[in-house]
Amino acid sequence: MEDATPPILELRNFGYTYLEGTPRAVEAIRDVSFKVRRGERVGIVGATQSGKSTIVDSFAHLLRVKPGQVFYDGRDIAEPGYDRAKLRREVGIVFQRPDSQIIEDVVGADVAFGPTAAGLSAPETRERVEESLDTLGLPYPEYRLRYVHALSGGQRRRVAIAGVLAMRTPVLVLDEPMAGLDPRGRRGLLELLVRLQNERGLTLIVCSASLTDASLLCDRFVVLDGGTVAIDGPVRDVLREADRLAELDVTLPEPVIGAREMRKLFPDFPTDLLTEEELEAELVKRIGAA
Ligand SMILES: Nc1ncnc2c1ncn2[C@@H]1O[C@H](COP(=O)(O)OP(=O)(O)O)[C@@H](O)[C@H]1O
Ligand SMILES: [Mg+2]
Repeated sequence: MEDATPPILELRNFGYTYLEGTPRAVEAIRDVSFKVRRGERVGIVGATQSGKSTIVDSFAHLLRVKPGQVFYDGRDIAEPGYDRAKLRREVGIVFQRPDSQIIEDVVGADVAFGPTAAGLSAPETRERVEESLDTLGLPYPEYRLRYVHALSGGQRRRVAIAGVLAMRTPVLVLDEPMAGLDPRGRRGLLELLVRLQNERGLTLIVCSASLTDASLLCDRFVVLDGGTVAIDGPVRDVLREADRLAELDVTLPEPVIGAREMRKLFPDFPTDLLTEEELEAELVKRIGAA
């Protein structure tokens, strides 16, 4: 049965061509349709240049989107008079290049920018800045006066994420959030996102060329190939199509890579495995304990 509440975000036959009408036109996205329900954790995955960031930019209103293509909470965001400020308050976006969204020179001021612009009082703003920085592992007393340009790439990414978290939007979109983070930073961010989703019922949209972290974070994947949707389904269903994913140049999670190797011996070996433990259990089933 169809859910009666409108999806929080919906793309309907969305298409986008950069430099349209010029000899250098690039059709980045063609006929992409999918719905995101409240509280869902959706991974938009696909090789580089498959169109992930173009989709993110459509949510951010950075593209001239055509009417009838992108809907937020049941309303067409390209309709004349649509309240874009409301959209910005409700959909927090961490772009692929976080440096592009850092506005202030000093960490505390940068994270405070959004809440201040949204009209929050100074004490409320301070509370949110403190909470967001602490959550991201950048303790407020230590980092609030640091210069953003003196931080590492991974720390700057966390400042950008803190700035978006401080807005407390019901929807959070992250474009390749794990790129450039070391394994510890990735694990920390992954745990944080899982916790936020559980505590605040966030709707999460995460773009990635790698399924390694996305498969632990998301419950559904929309797989892009050359600007169109190739596969859309629950994470395990998508992982069952591991051979097709490999053809699409998507980086597979380690347990899935292991499972594909095992298929040479056991053609029916399942590939919908999320963890090393699950892979281990399948191996034990077939060849017994080591
Ligand atoms: N500003 C732009 N101008 C022209 N072409 C672009 C621009 N941004 C992206 N593209 C093209 O659009 C396609 C999709 O890119 P993008 O959405 O960035 O994919 P992804 O995020 O999956 O790497 C690519 O062919 C890319 O070269
Ligand atoms: Mg991108």
